[in-house]
Amino acid sequence: MTHKSRKPYIAGNWKMNLDRSKCLDMVKIIKSRLGDGNDREVAVFAPSIYLADVTAVAQGSPLGVGGQNLWYEENGAFTGEVAARMLREVGADRVLVGHSERRHVFHEPDEWMGRKVRAALDRDLLPIYCVGETIEERRGNRTDRVIKRQLDAGFEKVRPEDAHRITVAYEPVWAIGTGETATVEQAAAVHKMIRKWIAQRLGDEASQITRVIYGGSVKPDNAKQLMAAEDIDGLLVGGASLQADTFIPIIEYDAR
Ligand code: PGA
Repeated sequence: MTHKSRKPYIAGNWKMNLDRSKCLDMVKIIKSRLGDGNDREVAVFAPSIYLADVTAVAQGSPLGVGGQNLWYEENGAFTGEVAARMLREVGADRVLVGHSERRHVFHEPDEWMGRKVRAALDRDLLPIYCVGETIEERRGNRTDRVIKRQLDAGFEKVRPEDAHRITVAYEPVWAIGTGETATVEQAAAVHKMIRKWIAQRLGDEASQITRVIYGGSVKPDNAKQLMAAEDIDGLLVGGASLQADTFIPIIEYDAR
């Protein structure tokens, strides 16, 4: 269970799925179920081409809307890339950084992560910085080492006062889109390690504020169990966020 200093955070990562009208339908449904958003924070990460429309429909509700990636420069010759200020301009208030598909399919190196996270923070976007080990790394007992290396990279330019704006998502690569969820014990152990790392890097106070959320085959029937674990402050949901009948029950997981 998340500490009371951290609001539970449920985020849907739509990846390169849904068409424009389905995105907008989903936003309307989510919006109608959110209430005042006081007890949990909910956001969707939509394809950047639809962000302006999605944020227009989300307006007036506490639903957060984010991009799935950004480039850290302000402008220039970076064909195909999107700058933090561009995401802001179309109404996004947050962004994913270092998602496992960016790292593994598009080979984004650790060296970019600190600058991406900083660019997001400097432009008032709330970053979710994603980390996670592959199955080979887990089998080789390298999980902690790999995640600490990724944290070192992403937090390179993060300061203690940024703690309330940055979220870490622990997403074991072997659990993403595979139907195989980490056990609550596996996830909780890594979340604990991440919080300890943050305490060492940014101090105890910051580590109590920074949210660490879990992603990887989250479903309506495992959301409550995961959210009951100490140090799991939220969920980053891929496949199950694409339909209201699976995403709404996750958003409305019963905290008791
Ligand atoms: P999944 O994706 O829920 O489909 O496993 C999670 C993610 O990639 O963020």
